[in-house]
Amino acid sequence: HAHIDHATPEKVHAAIKAGDTHAHIPDYEDYAAYAANGGYETLKDLRENGDWEAVQQKVLDSGLRGLGGAGFPSGKKWGFVRANKGTRYLAVNGDEGEPGTFKDRYYLERTPHLFLEGMLIAAWAVEAQTCFIYMRDEYPAVLEILRREIAALEDAGVVEAGYIDLRRGAGAYICGEESAMIESIEGKRGIPRHRPPYVAQVGVFDKPTLVHNIETLHWVARVCREGGEILSGVEKNGRTGLRSYSVSGRVKNPGVHLLPAGSTIRDVVEAAGGMLDGHTLKAYQPGGPSSGLLPASMDDIPLDFDTLQPHGSFIGSAAVVVLSDKDSARDAAINMLRFFEDESCGQCTPCRVGCEKAVKLMQAPKWDQPLLEEVCQAMADASICGLGQAAPNPIRLTMKHFPNEV
Ligand code: NAI
Ligand code: SF4
Repeated sequence: HAHIDHATPEKVHAAIKAGDTHAHIPDYEDYAAYAANGGYETLKDLRENGDWEAVQQKVLDSGLRGLGGAGFPSGKKWGFVRANKGTRYLAVNGDEGEPGTFKDRYYLERTPHLFLEGMLIAAWAVEAQTCFIYMRDEYPAVLEILRREIAALEDAGVVEAGYIDLRRGAGAYICGEESAMIESIEGKRGIPRHRPPYVAQVGVFDKPTLVHNIETLHWVARVCREGGEILSGVEKNGRTGLRSYSVSGRVKNPGVHLLPAGSTIRDVVEAAGGMLDGHTLKAYQPGGPSSGLLPASMDDIPLDFDTLQPHGSFIGSAAVVVLSDKDSARDAAINMLRFFEDESCGQCTPCRVGCEKAVKLMQAPKWDQPLLEEVCQAMADASICGLGQAAPNPIRLTMKHFPNEV
């Protein structure tokens, strides 16, 4: 954590500008160290004798699901993309913008080559012509690491020059939505597209595109090298696999905690060193603001894909924010809606106007709950993308679980 604390964007930008590219870059496993430990042997073997369908099956059997937050079975996407003829691309979503999420950064600042090898394995599986990496610009240390290590891969002949195309995001949350990201990669304003067609059919420059999150690809490399059992062999509370919880808020040891996917909020808080002294658990955000707030009484639910939907929430990218008796659920919900109001791309009215109206209504001392519910319904029904569709979650969950505060 010491390294992460020091690598603020301002410091890294200043250091890079001054030509001091070594300053504020965390220690990480570079190409030489990774290759010395057998790194890229799996990729080499697959490129020489691999059967992509066998690898796809291995990834499917491991239970690996999209760790950007949607949990779509990772191997399935490979089949969708492969089914299309002609040029295909791979685009990596590194625009980790979900408030409270920092797991991709965590892995990239430590073991960037697990991600890069996983990306090249997936690119091999779908015969991608180019790999675009869309990287959050607020992670300048990560960008510097990737620049260095992509150059190292080119020098070592693992990839041809230009095969990996590193693109910088520009701070818009919506550009983490995969179709908005693709618009941005194409050089346009980042606004979501209507689906279908899915990006697996019509993606970057209208070509079939495999889109994966950074952490998903990190696990592709590990599953291919170590076997799918590293995920499928972990069971807890009837759930299988591992989750990288980004934990922040009123805990003693905030950070990324890798735990079984069946972990409850109590397990997550315990792994994070317990509650801060003098604080008791009141509520938690299980997976980013779109997942809203759940009360401490709901502390026995495994924080995994599919388990929170019946409660009007979801795990998403597992950005767990822990609130205590010293926090206001109402203020937290207003903060979440302010964020959505700021980050709405403005393309569709239910989201653009709905977020703004919701923030206004939530500032009243007593919420007009029927009217807020009407706004929520319009947003959930008629917004084009997940931002507007899920923005009602914090409003609805706060009305349901913290009625005394609203
Ligand atoms: P989605 O469910 O629409 O899609 C998930 C993936 O599966 C996409 O790549 C999509 O193209 C693919 N897919 C789905 N159905 C398909 C089909 N029939 N054929 C081919 N491909 C198909 O979810 P979405 O909107 O991509 O992601 C929502 C999640 O993103 C939320 O759970 C949220 O938590 C998370 N999120 C994560 C952020 C982060 O910083 N990591 C930021 C904001 C949201
Ligand atoms: Fe843009 Fe919001 Fe509509 Fe998504 S729901 S397309 S963010 S206006």
